[in-house]
Amino acid sequence: MFPLALFACFATANAYLWPNPALDEVESLLYEIVIDTSSLVFFVSPCDTFTGTGGTISGRSNAADWIRTAYHDMATHNVTDGTGGMDASIRFAEEQARLENAGDGFSNTLSVLTGFSTRYVSIADILAIGAVMAVERCGGPQIPFRAGRVDATEPNPPGVPQPQDPLQSHIATFAREGFTQTEMISLVACGHTFGGVQHDPFPNIVPELTDPGNTQSVAHFDTTNVHFDNNVATEYISGTTQNPLVVGFNDTTNSDKRIFGSDGNVTMQSFANSPDLFASTCAALFARMLDTVPSGVQLSDVINPMLVKPATPIFTLDGDVLRFTGRVRFWNLTANANRVVTLLWNDHLGGAHSSTLLSSLESSTTYPYGVATSYIFGNSSDDGLLLDPAAGITTMRFSVDGKLEDQGGVGFAVQDGFAFSTTSCFFDNNGTAQYDVAVRNGVNLTSLYIETEQRDNTGHVGVTETANFAPSGRTANAAYSIWTVNLSGSPFTRYVGAEIDGVKFSTALVIPLPALPSC
Ligand code: HEM
Ligand SMILES: *[C@@H]1O[C@H](CO)[C@@H](O)[C@H](O)[C@H]1NC(C)=O
Ligand SMILES: *[C@@H]1O[C@H](CO)[C@@H](O)[C@H](O)[C@H]1NC(C)=O
Ligand SMILES: *[C@@H]1O[C@H](CO)[C@@H](O)[C@H](O)[C@H]1NC(C)=O
Ligand SMILES: *[C@@H]1O[C@H](CO)[C@@H](O)[C@H](O)[C@H]1NC(C)=O
Ligand SMILES: *[C@@H]1O[C@H](CO)[C@@H](O)[C@H](O)[C@H]1NC(C)=O
Ligand SMILES: *[C@@H]1O[C@H](CO)[C@@H](O)[C@H](O)[C@H]1NC(C)=O
Ligand SMILES: *[C@@H]1O[C@H](CO)[C@@H](O)[C@H](O)[C@H]1NC(C)=O
Ligand SMILES: *[C@@H]1O[C@H](CO)[C@@H](O)[C@H](O)[C@H]1NC(C)=O
Repeated sequence: MFPLALFACFATANAYLWPNPALDEVESLLYEIVIDTSSLVFFVSPCDTFTGTGGTISGRSNAADWIRTAYHDMATHNVTDGTGGMDASIRFAEEQARLENAGDGFSNTLSVLTGFSTRYVSIADILAIGAVMAVERCGGPQIPFRAGRVDATEPNPPGVPQPQDPLQSHIATFAREGFTQTEMISLVACGHTFGGVQHDPFPNIVPELTDPGNTQSVAHFDTTNVHFDNNVATEYISGTTQNPLVVGFNDTTNSDKRIFGSDGNVTMQSFANSPDLFASTCAALFARMLDTVPSGVQLSDVINPMLVKPATPIFTLDGDVLRFTGRVRFWNLTANANRVVTLLWNDHLGGAHSSTLLSSLESSTTYPYGVATSYIFGNSSDDGLLLDPAAGITTMRFSVDGKLEDQGGVGFAVQDGFAFSTTSCFFDNNGTAQYDVAVRNGVNLTSLYIETEQRDNTGHVGVTETANFAPSGRTANAAYSIWTVNLSGSPFTRYVGAEIDGVKFSTALVIPLPALPSC
C-alpha cells in the first residue's frame, strides 16, 4: 500500500559511509529480513504471533505488546528538563511493578527483544526497532528509523497515563512528553489500532469473556486488532466501536472516549475519512515517539537501505597467503545470471586489481520493501580472495555491469593491519588455545587485545578488553609478524581488537572455522 511512494525518498547514495559497525548492524536488523526462527521479525510474523501464555488463542499478540512497551518506555519523558524517554528503563522491575505499567506485556516483550541487543545496538534501540517491525509488518506505514538510543542504568520517575485519569491530566501528560492535544488524540489512535485491554490486569474494565479463542479475555480496541488500519477511527465515528476504553461500563475509565472526543471528533473524523492520512500521521508520530530520548543522546540520521553494502570482511593469514572473505550486498538488484559484478581494489604497493564475482555465487533474499542480492568475494566456493600479503588491500570499489559503486569516490576502506593467523592452535591437554594474530609490519599499532562481550544483569551488552597480545618473535612472512596470547575458555564471545592510528577496530575470532590444529 505505501512502499512505492516511500521508495522515492531513498537516495541514490548510501545512507552513511561504510564501514560503521553500529549503523551497519542496525541497517541489517531493519532490512536484511529473512523470516526464520532466528530473526526478530519471526516474532511478529504472522501478526497474531504471541509467545506469552496461551499463544495465538490468548487474544493477545507480540505486535501489540511491543508497541505498547515502546510507548510506556517513552512516556516518562519530561520535555522541559530532558529526562526520561526511549531508554529501556521499562526493563527495570521497579517500573514494571507500578500500576501505570499493569500487565505482563513488558516482561513478555523484553524476554524476546533483549536478546537481540548487541554491543552496537542498545536495548532501547531494539525496543524501537521492535515497534517499527510490528507496525511495518502488520499493515502499517514505513517509519523512518534513527539509531543511537542509550540504555538507562536506573528506573525513571513514574509518569505513564492511566485510563481513570481525567482529560486535563492526559493533556498535561502528553504536553510533558512533548505532544500537543491533537497529537495526543492521534498517537493514542495510532497505538490503539493494535491489541486491547485484558481482563487480568484490568478486571474493572474488562469482564471475563469465557471465549476459547481469547483465553486471556482481551477486549480489542477495533475489529482488526493485529492489523494496522483506520478501523479504530471508522468504528468509533460510526458508533459501532467495541473499544473498552470508549464503551466500557464504567465511564471513569473511558479514556479513549474522552481523548477522541476532546476536539469535537475533528481528528478522529479525518482519520475515518482517510486511511492514507491516518497512515502518514501515524508514521510521523511513531517516529517522534521513538525518537523521544533523554537530552544529550544523539541519534543518527534516518537509516535507509544501503544500496551497496559490504559485509563480514575477514582477513586470515595463512602463511604466504592473505585470505580475504566477505560479501557485498546490492539493494534492489534482482537476480540475473548475465550480470557482471567486479570487485576492484587498491593495494599498499600502489597496485590496482580486479576480480569478477561469479554469478553462481549469488544469493537473493526478499526484504520487506525490496529485493537484495549478495555476491561473495572470491571466485571459488567460500575461499575468498587470495592476496599477496605484501600487497594486501586498502580500499574496494565495485562495478555492476560497468557502473562504478565507490561511495561517491571515497571507496570502501578495509583494515588489513591485523589478521587472524592459521598458526593459532589448541593445547590438547587442557583446552587452552594459543591465539595468533598477524600484524602488518610498519602499521601504527598501539594495542592488540581480546575483547569479551558480556550481558550485565540488566540485559545490557558491554565489551571488556581483556588479554593483551604480545609480540611472539615469530615472523609470518615478509609483510606480517605474529603476536600471541594463551587463553582458555569459549572463543564464541571473543573478538580481536586493535588500535591502529588511534582508531579502534574489531573483528570476529575466526575460531573454530576451520577447527584449530593441535599445538
Ligand atoms: C492516555 C493514554 C493511554 C491510555 C490511558 C492507555 C491505556 C491502555 C490500556 C489500559 C491498555 C490495556 C493494556 C493491557 O491490557 O495489557 C492499553 C493497551 C495498549 N495501548 Fe494504550 N493507552 C494510552 C496511550 C497509548 C499510546 C500513545 C500507545 C502507542 C502509541 C498505546 C498503545 C497501546 C497498545 C498497542 C495496547 C495493546 C496492548 C496489548 O494488547 O497487549 N497506548 N492502553
Ligand atoms: C518537568 O521538569 C521540570 C524542570 O525540572 C519540572 O519543573 C516539572 O515539574 C517536570 N514536570 C513533571 C510533570 O514532572
Ligand atoms: C469506576 O472506576 C473507578 C476508577 O477505577 C472506580 O473508583 C469506581 O469505583 C468504578 N465505579 C464502578 C461503578 O465500578
Ligand atoms: C464523537 O463521535 C461519537 C460517535 O459518533 C459520538 O458518540 C460523540 O458524541 C461524538 N463526540 C463529540 C464531542 O462530538
Ligand atoms: C528499484 O528499482 C526500480 C526498478 O528499476 C526503480 O524504479 C526504483 O527506483 C529502485 N529503487 C531504489 C531505491 O533504487
Ligand atoms: C580467481 O581470482 C584470482 C585472483 O584472486 C585469479 O588469479 C584467478 O585467475 C581467478 N580464477 C578464475 C577461475 O576466475
Ligand atoms: C594449559 O597448557 C599450556 C601448555 O601446556 C600451558 O601453557 C597453560 O598454562 C595451561 N593452562 C592452564 C589454564 O592450565
Ligand atoms: C603459551 O603456552 C605455550 C605452551 O606452554 C608456551 O610455550 C608459550 O610461551 C605460551 N605463550 C605465552 C604468550 O604465554
Ligand atoms: C600512532 O597513533 C597514535 C594515536 O593516534 C599517535 O598519537 C601517534 O603519533 C602515531 N604514531 C605514528 C608514528 O604515526
